[in-house]
Amino acid sequence: MYLSASFVCVSIFILILGLPPLQISPLGKAVLITGCESPLARALAKRLDDLGFTVFAAFKKLQDSDDAATLKETSSGRVKLLQLNVTSEVEMLEASLAIVEQLPDGEPGLWALVHCDLWSVLGELEWVPFPVLRKSFDINVLGASRLTQIMLPLIRSSKGRVVFLSSALAHLPSPVRGVLSATQAALEGLAVCLRRELKPRRVGVSIVCASEATAGDTWLNDRDMRAQAKAMWTLLSEEQKEAYGEDYFEQAIRSVEPFSHGDADFQATVRALTDAIMRTFPVFRYTPLNRQEKLQTIAAEHLPSSLYEILFKA
Ligand SMILES: *[C@@H]1O[C@H](CO)[C@@H](O)[C@H](O)[C@H]1NC(C)=O
Repeated sequence: MYLSASFVCVSIFILILGLPPLQISPLGKAVLITGCESPLARALAKRLDDLGFTVFAAFKKLQDSDDAATLKETSSGRVKLLQLNVTSEVEMLEASLAIVEQLPDGEPGLWALVHCDLWSVLGELEWVPFPVLRKSFDINVLGASRLTQIMLPLIRSSKGRVVFLSSALAHLPSPVRGVLSATQAALEGLAVCLRRELKPRRVGVSIVCASEATAGDTWLNDRDMRAQAKAMWTLLSEEQKEAYGEDYFEQAIRSVEPFSHGDADFQATVRALTDAIMRTFPVFRYTPLNRQEKLQTIAAEHLPSSLYEILFKA
């Protein structure tokens, strides 16, 4: 009896020792985070810096950014600020050169690229001006795709990761959020395939589906949202204004207020992003959602749409 118990213990011990570590070591590894205008992306930058990563924090507009200056001041010398507008080919190429120059000694490339640059547009399709629609696809879909293309040689050399910050909205049919839902669904389609394409190259791909409320001020602040709504209303034709009415319009815009709750807790999302970067065998899809959102996502995917609409008044 005694013998067999110790035999079991020894076997378990060997098994644990024999397994690869669950997490990679951050030391000497470099991560690029886009969209550091958002508090969520900056919180991730801080977290990765604390863990020992070299962090390239990319800002759409680095010049005169107080957020960038504060991040630099409050973090270690391993945080490097980058100017990176993902709709500018030149800036993306310049960023890749800047990264190569500043990689930690002996590092073959970039360990992870984290796409946090996300531009939210809210409004029913008929209201969204076409240039605005185009800009959101330019940033959220084309920008992220092109940046991935440019950075992949660097990521392949490290057998690293590509991580996309997406939104639960990609799976939830709900009015006013159509454009964002479309760009994130497009990105997820790309990511699902990219994951399989990069498997032989030993590069991991993950998606983190953040909750709508989490997004909060990380995606859109209250002032921007109201300004956007006002601009949209002014651009409508008289016929459209009459057909929808100002009350309906305002109510629709108010329905997306969770977007602008600046105090939203995004720690669960930061944890999921960190896990996608650090776990030896990363999970493909993370859903740091609250219970109501998880339930709604499952219902949206599995229930008949008529039933879903009754249950969630979508
Ligand atoms: C990013 O680049 C595009 C195209 O070059 C430009 O239209 C846009 O204003 C730039 N965005 C910022 C925030 O500088």
